Amino acid sequence: MEIVFHDKTALVTGAGSGIGEAVAKGLAASGARVLVQDLNLAAASRVANEIAATGGLAKAAGGDVSDPAAVEGLVAQAVDWGSGLHLLVNNAGIAGPSAPVGEYPLDGWNHVININLNAVFYGMRHAIPAMLQAGGGAIVNMASILGSVGFANAAAYTSAKHALLGLTRAAALEYSAKGIRVNAIGPGFIETPLLSALPPGAKEALITAHPIGRLGRPDEVADLTQYLLSDKASFITGSYHLVDGGYCAQ
Ligand code: NAI
Repeated sequence: MEIVFHDKTALVTGAGSGIGEAVAKGLAASGARVLVQDLNLAAASRVANEIAATGGLAKAAGGDVSDPAAVEGLVAQAVDWGSGLHLLVNNAGIAGPSAPVGEYPLDGWNHVININLNAVFYGMRHAIPAMLQAGGGAIVNMASILGSVGFANAAAYTSAKHALLGLTRAAALEYSAKGIRVNAIGPGFIETPLLSALPPGAKEALITAHPIGRLGRPDEVADLTQYLLSDKASFITGSYHLVDGGYCAQ
């Protein structure tokens, strides 16, 4: 199945590392122009340069996606560069503090909600008018298996990811008939720097929680993302797609 994104412009947030990097590289390899966004501009530039070195079209952008003005600027930059915005992957996210609810730090709660939830709303709020202008588009919101099941000591992360599913469904109801499909992905635990804060031994425990017997790879999430953004998924909207090695089947 060949997926082609010629003449499509994509904005991928948090694309300087892990899943976002794999998504940006995959989209570029399929012909999209990719605005590679990350809070860490040096990381975004590295990814954009690597894409360009393989003949792809990419541009790096910095900024904090929890700042609505920054997100508005990113969408404008993508529109100006690519003659419209067609694809959005709201991927930037953080793990946040690890603590039970009764001890959860208030500033940590707000930080996680701002990046993992509010920023996704800002992305859609600004990208959707641009996509309508461009004649349609597709959006993928990077949720998690923790969008549908709980996880101890990660209340803010779990709450933000659950809320992303509601946001995805509401937007799909509003815009699917207008040519914009909106879906969410629920990765299981994936080998990326996000897991670097895990305490010793935690990774081994996580592996046993995945019936497939290992953690996932960023490219496995990127492949699903690319499919959902493509015309191959033309009847898929408002839904939540697991790529979790069987984690949620138990
Ligand atoms: P990562 O830590 O490798 O990459 C996240 C990127 O987001 C980093 O480059 C970081 O600089 C950027 N970022 C953080 N805050 C930002 C902000 N305010 N503005 C712009 N960029 C920002 O993490 P990973 O694993 O690639 O995660 C990507 C997404 O996938 C996140 O939404 C995460 O919650 C989700 N996810 C990850 C899983 C995992 O096990 N790695 C499992 C399920 C979901």
